[in-house]
Amino acid sequence: GSGTLKDAATDFSVGMITRASYINGGGQHTALLKQEFNNLSSEYEMKMNIMYPSEDTYDFSAGDVIVAFAQENDMNVHGHALIWHNATPSWVEDFTGTDAEFEAMVEDYITTTMNHFKGKVRSWDVVNEAIADDNGNALRGSIFKDRMGDDYVRKCFQFARNADPDALLFYNDYNFASSASKRAAIFNLIDGLGDLIDGAGAQMHISYNGPAASEIQAVVNGTVSRNLLMHFSELDIRTNPEKDEAVMELSSARGAQQQAKFKEVVQIYNAIPIDNKFALTVWGLRDNESWLLEFHGVPDWPLLFDENYDKKLGYIGFLEGLN
Ligand code: G3I
Repeated sequence: GSGTLKDAATDFSVGMITRASYINGGGQHTALLKQEFNNLSSEYEMKMNIMYPSEDTYDFSAGDVIVAFAQENDMNVHGHALIWHNATPSWVEDFTGTDAEFEAMVEDYITTTMNHFKGKVRSWDVVNEAIADDNGNALRGSIFKDRMGDDYVRKCFQFARNADPDALLFYNDYNFASSASKRAAIFNLIDGLGDLIDGAGAQMHISYNGPAASEIQAVVNGTVSRNLLMHFSELDIRTNPEKDEAVMELSSARGAQQQAKFKEVVQIYNAIPIDNKFALTVWGLRDNESWLLEFHGVPDWPLLFDENYDKKLGYIGFLEGLN
């Protein structure tokens, strides 16, 4: 129907995360997914710890549920995320073979996984969050860096390119807008990947009061100047970054500020040259389903829909950004 987010976003996809349990639950949740969105990311079930739980076991069952729903509803799936230090199975962390055997295992995992989803998962976050926030934004320490060397990111992108030459390969990270030094380090990493990378993902876990539009624009400018696709991959907009434990509801004033920030972010994304447009993905459907609530342990209302699946002012702001 007209007036939905996906209908208003005429030349890029509007993405949402989901889970097999949400798909299987159906109801208002899946009705809203179908109505408003045309790209799905798995919130956690297409990460290594879920898909490759032990060295002789792959489990794509949850990802298959999400992909089947997407195919039934003319949606694309963005594969999040092949390699991430925070979603690495313990057997990989404790790998006892040689470095060469470790690298061969990683190549096999990337190849097997991308072959399983070939033709159904159009794009992948090959590596997520490889740049540290500290240590001068050096390459973050991880079992992959330890075992495969400092060029593990490039190796993983090469494995992915070999596995599915038609897939769009992304590097994804956070604080891409809010930290100029991390942004520089991310773009330096991206420059080292040459033609192995197709797009950059800026997670965009932001607040009603920052980062500034100019910082968000700097992410876009660096991506576009490299002729890469831009993915705002995990947008949520905190309304309680002050972490006030006593706040009991989203005030109309703060809701209006969130509306303005959604409008600003969407306007920036919508102004990207069409050849560099890909998707703007929101990291959760209803406020009460957001990862932020558990992560920060304080009330917040960071998303587009409230717990009753009703549209918030933020939803209006998203549409305003598209006009
Ligand atoms: O649903 C199961 C439940 O059935 C089970 O009883 C419980 C205990 O095992 O686990 C539940 O699954 C959890 C899932 O969130 C749903 O709550 C997983 O353990 C937990 O690991 C998972 O956390 C996810 C996290 O990434 C790690 O994968 C969050 O949902 C997800 O929002 C978060 O997303 C990350 C991005 O991938 C990368 N950028 C940062 C972002 C926030 O951390």
